[in-house]
Parts: sequence; C-alpha cells; structure tokens
Amino acid sequence: MDASALGIDLTADNAIVWRDGRLYLLDQRLLPQQADFLPLEEVRAVADAIRDMVVRGAPAIGISAAYGVALAARHRFRANPVDWKTAIAADLETLARSRPTAVNLFWAIERMGARIVALPEGDPEPALLAEARRIHEEDVEANHRMGDLGAALIEGATAVITHCNAGALATGGYGTALGVIRSAFRDGKIQRVYADETRPWLQGARLTAWELERDGIPVSLMVEGAAAARMRAGGVGWIIVGSDRIAANGDLANKIGTYGLAVAARYHGLKFMVAAPTSTIDMKVPSGELIPIEERAAEEIFHCGGRRVATEGVDAWNPVFDVTPAGLVDAIVTEKGVVLNPDRAKMEALMGG
Ligand code: MRU
Repeated sequence: MDASALGIDLTADNAIVWRDGRLYLLDQRLLPQQADFLPLEEVRAVADAIRDMVVRGAPAIGISAAYGVALAARHRFRANPVDWKTAIAADLETLARSRPTAVNLFWAIERMGARIVALPEGDPEPALLAEARRIHEEDVEANHRMGDLGAALIEGATAVITHCNAGALATGGYGTALGVIRSAFRDGKIQRVYADETRPWLQGARLTAWELERDGIPVSLMVEGAAAARMRAGGVGWIIVGSDRIAANGDLANKIGTYGLAVAARYHGLKFMVAAPTSTIDMKVPSGELIPIEERAAEEIFHCGGRRVATEGVDAWNPVFDVTPAGLVDAIVTEKGVVLNPDRAKMEALMGG
C-alpha cells in the first residue's frame, strides 16, 4: 500500500507505524524507488517480514517484534481467554527464529514476555501495545541521546565513512550511526559522508544515501572495496557504524565488512566509533566469537540488480555479519554513556555490574 494512500507523510522516521489495529512496515526492499507499506495483522507475517528483510536493522527488528507480540496476544486471547499465556509461547518462538544475530530481537521478545507474565486477567492487547509503543519511543530517545554524545567526540569539520544502514530506517527513528552523523552535521562537524554500498542487499546505496540525501547531508556512495583507498586519500576522521550485538568484552557484530573497515581504520590512524543502544549489548555473551552469525542464501550473492552474475555451479559463502574485536574500537556510544577503548570491566561498569 502506497505511503500517500495511507496518509503517511513519508520520512525515514516513520517506517514502523501502528494504525487502526494493524502494524504497517515500510517495505525497505523496494526503497528508494517505491515507498510501500505492508499491513500486518498476524505474528507469523511479522516474523516473515523480519526474515525477508522488509524491516531490517537491529533496533527496528526488535520494535517490530514487540508489535508482533501485541498482535499475537490479540489472536491467542480471542481463541482462548483462559490459557492464552501458554499458547503465546509458540508465537514468541516464531519471532525469535526470524533472524539470529541482532540481540535487540531477543531483548524485545524477553521484555514483552515479562510483561505478559505480569498481566492480570482480561484483554492483554492494550497493555502489550502500550509496552511496544514504549520500546519504540525509548529507542528514538536513545538515538537522540547517542547522537549528542557521539557528536561531542568528533572534532570537526571532517568527512566520515559509514557502512550498511544504521539510520532511522534501521531503528525507531533518527538512527544510531546516522543519528551521530545527523547531530554532528547539525553542529557543523561533518563535511561529507562516504557510504559503503553494502553488497548484497545494498543498504548503503538504497537506504543510507536516501536518508542522508533527504536530510541535505552531503553523501558520496562508494563500493566497500574503495573504503581503504578513501581512508588513505585523507580528509576522513571517523568511521561510524552501528551494531547488531555487542559482547560483554566490547567485541561487536555488525554488517559484513565492518571488521575490514576497523582494520583499515587502525592502519591509517583513523578513529572507529560504534553507536548502539544498550538493548544491543548482550552481557550473556562473553566475547565476539560466541555471537551467532547469520548466513543467508547463496542466491543473494549470485545475483545483482535482478540479474544472475555468478557462473552456474559455483559455491558461495554468505555470512551477513562479522565480528570486530574490541581492541580495534575507539568508542562505543550508548544512551547511557560513552565507553572509550572498550573492555570487559568498562562494559560491566556501563551496564551496572
Ligand atoms: O542485515 P541488516 O540490514 O539487518 O543489517 C543491519 C546492520 O548491520 C546495521 O548496521 C545494524 O543493525 C545496526 S542498525 C542501527
């Protein structure tokens, strides 16, 4: 359904919309050519939308799942007002199986699950919808706070490199890495953003460039193979990325290619910043090698622009995230504060032991 047909004034900040008892997700696979919203009324459809990349980006996945739990509760309560809390466990599992790496998904499901346990008798939908809305609003607030904290670290004016899309589309609004870039641009500290195109889903080309261009922030698209050469050419001060899961020692998973950027940044003496809300920090995972890394279908890299580019019969390896060791990170920026040169003790201090 077209955004204007729905009366939605399209900005990247309203890619996740609850209206008239339905969840509307902006279909990010079609951007920037088309702005279509998918109306969802079933939890299974929400899980499919997450798996199939209609909605993507760690916080956005978590927020969508939270609304999915509210939809699940509606159906389970109607079917069995007495024992719906037992039945809904299967729906939480369906959501949890949609994608493995972004911990925000599991964090949101757990938070909704705790709310379910505490609910009194009666229709659960209003309370669960309110909780999902709170998760959504808190995410936007966290992004603005991170934006200010991250911008304060940048001595302007400089160019920066970002990877994938860690913008409003990947979150409840404003963005993590793009939130820092937005705030720093507002403060006169950003001259230009170099956005990696990010094969194979091209989140950089289709989503990051779209968001920045709409905000009037100068952006140059580049293939990710150009990043090291761009660093060497000069003028770049920071690499700024988001994350899908940060381990207890500060190692972090993010879109495949992030690790290479961090290695190249260190070689060239550039700073590497990760902006992520504390819902992305998984203190239960001690270090990066224990973060589950999603591998997606080989088909995704056999094709480009709807055309097969790989020879028939060839094999492929398609991990969609990699792990950057904490030792390559200069700053992790969260809504609770900044961790410089992260390690386990500093992460524990941030997360309150
Ligand atoms: O596969 P995607 O598009 O969901 O991957 C998204 C990323 O890797 C983002 O950088 C990450 O989720 C941070 S989003 C604020």
